[in-house]
Amino acid sequence: MARKIIIDTDPGVDDAMAIFFALRSPELDVIGLTTVFGNVHTDLATTNALRLLEIAGRTDIPVAKGADDPLAGPFKGPVPFVHGDDGQGNANLPAPRSRPIDQPAAAFIVEQIMAAPGEITLVPIGPLTNIALALRLEPRIAQHVKEVVLMGGNALCPGNATPAAEANIHNDPEAADVVFGAGWPVTMVGLDVTHQVNMTPEHLARYAASDDPLAQHIARIIPHYRAYFERANPGMRGIYVHDSSAIAYVIDPTLFETRQWPLRVETQGVSRGKTWPAVGTGAEQLPAAWRNRPPVNVCVGVDAERLIALEAGRLT
Ligand code: RIB
Ligand code: CA
Repeated sequence: MARKIIIDTDPGVDDAMAIFFALRSPELDVIGLTTVFGNVHTDLATTNALRLLEIAGRTDIPVAKGADDPLAGPFKGPVPFVHGDDGQGNANLPAPRSRPIDQPAAAFIVEQIMAAPGEITLVPIGPLTNIALALRLEPRIAQHVKEVVLMGGNALCPGNATPAAEANIHNDPEAADVVFGAGWPVTMVGLDVTHQVNMTPEHLARYAASDDPLAQHIARIIPHYRAYFERANPGMRGIYVHDSSAIAYVIDPTLFETRQWPLRVETQGVSRGKTWPAVGTGAEQLPAAWRNRPPVNVCVGVDAERLIALEAGRLT
């Protein structure tokens, strides 16, 4: 029985790879996409989600538009220098023919989880605003979700949006702190592992060489994204695999090494958005901010080559 998942996404070049990876994995049944700001504004994220499902021939999958802004203030703005003005590497795709459903993302997430207790896995691969809003709408989803597997955070390593913080968490730290404290089974697939998963030009060449329409789309949107990584990380070749790493975890968690720690998110000052696990402090002196917080399953190691091969095997 394929595992039902909802992907909450801000497509986004790596989001597109992750969505295609999930659609081509028989272990998974994508029952919906919900959209959020981050790489682009939410309207464009929604348009891109619709476009991706059309390319994949899966317009049967509903797309529900989510929040336009974070919980605590206006959206800081997109990152065209990473994902392109269109969020798809400036591939300038035609407008989608399909439309999103009328139901907002948070309501869609609540309705699906409450209708199938214990069956739905949430896979957020953008800022966590919609997930926090769904918890606010119906707190019982914390008891009825099967699992939450999110791409975001940086437990023991520097950030990427700032020296302190990873982009998805930095875009809505207040929402992230709610999500990590909700007491549901949550796995954090953060930079601790995604910065170990480097798809090289040789890996990427497999997508360009494939006549699969999904691989062809990936090959078309990668160059702009790759150029950003190679500018931002002198000496680097290729890209980091962020969002697909969360999909890989859902398919095969044995790819990862994990630790369980209570975790807080910084919401103030220069480190706003940093995820702080309760590591390195003895239980007797653990401050109240971490005490009584539920443990988060934090990924700290990954078999990168096996993950890259798994995704390429599905998409090329
Ligand atoms: O830090 C990487 C994350 O931020 C990925 O989800 C990428 O798509 C961006 O949203
Ligand atoms: Ca993303």
